[in-house]
Amino acid sequence: MRPVIIAANWKMNTTPGDAGALARTIAERTREPGVVRVICPPYVCLAAVRDALEQEDVAVGAQNVHHELAGAYTGEVSASMLAGLATWVILGHSERRRDAGESDALIGRKLGRALASGLRPILCVGEQLAEREAGRAARVVADQLAGCLAGHDPAALMAAGLVIAYEPVWAIGTGRNASGADAAAMTDDIRATLRAGGWGSLADGVPVLYGGSATAANIGEFLAQPGIDGALVGGASLKADEMAGIVARAAVTAAARAAAAG
Ligand code: PGA
Repeated sequence: MRPVIIAANWKMNTTPGDAGALARTIAERTREPGVVRVICPPYVCLAAVRDALEQEDVAVGAQNVHHELAGAYTGEVSASMLAGLATWVILGHSERRRDAGESDALIGRKLGRALASGLRPILCVGEQLAEREAGRAARVVADQLAGCLAGHDPAALMAAGLVIAYEPVWAIGTGRNASGADAAAMTDDIRATLRAGGWGSLADGVPVLYGGSATAANIGEFLAQPGIDGALVGGASLKADEMAGIVARAAVTAAARAAAAG
């Protein structure tokens, strides 16, 4: 039985002064059984969020990590610096692919660093609008997966708790979400790609999240799909009301899965 996961990606929002209060409010309003909750604030807010969540069963994640542990990398943050601050990390977000030029190969190195450092990775993949319209979405995502996962041992990635987030780029921050059916088709394709890429039946155990304008109003469309295991939430994750609605719906799916598993 795969877990149901709701991860908040706060992106470049909040400050060390206000992040802790927001994290605590969200935690208090999302205490639902069976849902894995993760909050990923900016680096400089990690300590405040960690402290605010001390009594809560909510994990803290970083939004990125450098592939090296230390050295002449101005402005970067390494996995060793995140020790004690974060236990999860988002890798390969499309905004970093776009703004920081992150390649699949580089993201693959970051993945290796996350594994070596005990950070649980959320690996983001997703196609551009033109790629979807050209019928190439599944190919693009399969290539991203192949590039990011090359050289990594499936069993080690499973042991590290790898999570994949399918985030169609055209749906991120646009208010235009994918349909549940399209997202489910892609999660099937993602697991098929893994299966064919040497994962075999391990592919069935990898949680795959949807991301892209997910809200309390549309989350049910995704969580009704058996292949979708939760969401990576951006804009809506800054609003406690939205998070309360999203996690409440996620708890329904978690309960149904637990009942089905006996
Ligand atoms: P969004 O962002 O929910 O604001 O579309 C999702 C993400 O980028 O992870």
